[in-house]
Amino acid sequence: MAKKIILASGKGGVGKSSLTAGLAISLCEIGFNTLVIDFDIGMGCLDLILAADDTGIFNWGDVINETCEPMTALRSTIGPKLLVAPTFFDDSYTAEAVKKMVSFYDKHFDYILFDAPAGVSGGFKLAAECADEGIIVSTPDEVCVRVGQYAGDILYSMGLESVKLIINRFNKKLTTQGHYLNIDEVIDATVLQLVGVVPEDRKLSYCSVTGMQTLTKSPAKSAFYRIAKRLEGINVNLVI
Ligand SMILES: Nc1ncnc2c1ncn2[C@@H]1O[C@H](COP(=O)(O)OP(=O)(O)OP(=O)(O)O)[C@@H](O)[C@H]1O
Ligand SMILES: [Mg+2]
Repeated sequence: MAKKIILASGKGGVGKSSLTAGLAISLCEIGFNTLVIDFDIGMGCLDLILAADDTGIFNWGDVINETCEPMTALRSTIGPKLLVAPTFFDDSYTAEAVKKMVSFYDKHFDYILFDAPAGVSGGFKLAAECADEGIIVSTPDEVCVRVGQYAGDILYSMGLESVKLIINRFNKKLTTQGHYLNIDEVIDATVLQLVGVVPEDRKLSYCSVTGMQTLTKSPAKSAFYRIAKRLEGINVNLVI
């Protein structure tokens, strides 16, 4: 059985896709067979961020509609396998159909990460139906934190076992100067358990163009590794 985790947020653009990709690569490097499923229907971009091979033409809509074998739909990347999102929403994408699809992959992987779209509808709900655990990604500002807490509440109300928090784009200097909330303030406002802090890292932002394989020896890369360890219950520092 795979550990199935949804990465979600209230606001868009907070780093869900980048963190899903980075975390999945770290999990693979540690030795876990990892699948990433893109739930950003119509706006998926993990194939670019993960620099997936360009042999695949299928998405999970094809798996649900049985026009493609489940394993054939997977794309290879530098680490995890990737199942891309359909380009349009279809009535056949019910919670039951998506759960049935995920239950097939469950047998083949140690981790399945679901990259949710921003907000709490559509692809978010479908992914949440299949997940055991949630991670809310929030930048350290009041707007993202407030709606992040709301998204966390919804995940709990949908029956997830645990919902944790990653603070992304942390910048110590700007936080000290009072431009952003500090780590304790974000934890207090979201009422979620912190599992990682990813610093602002220019090298990570380049990956939207160059792909995650170019992210070597950077503060964000090191944060992904520590989050992967913490997901396994290994007590490594949150921030270095
Ligand atoms: N820690 C970081 N440091 C620097 N840039 C970052 C960081 N995290 C994310 N970014 C950049 O922020 C932008 C948005 O990131 P990303 O697409 O991962 O967000 P998202 O939450 O998935 O967005 P959406 O809600 O649209 O799906 C990208 O250009 C990405 O490279
Ligand atoms: Mg995204």
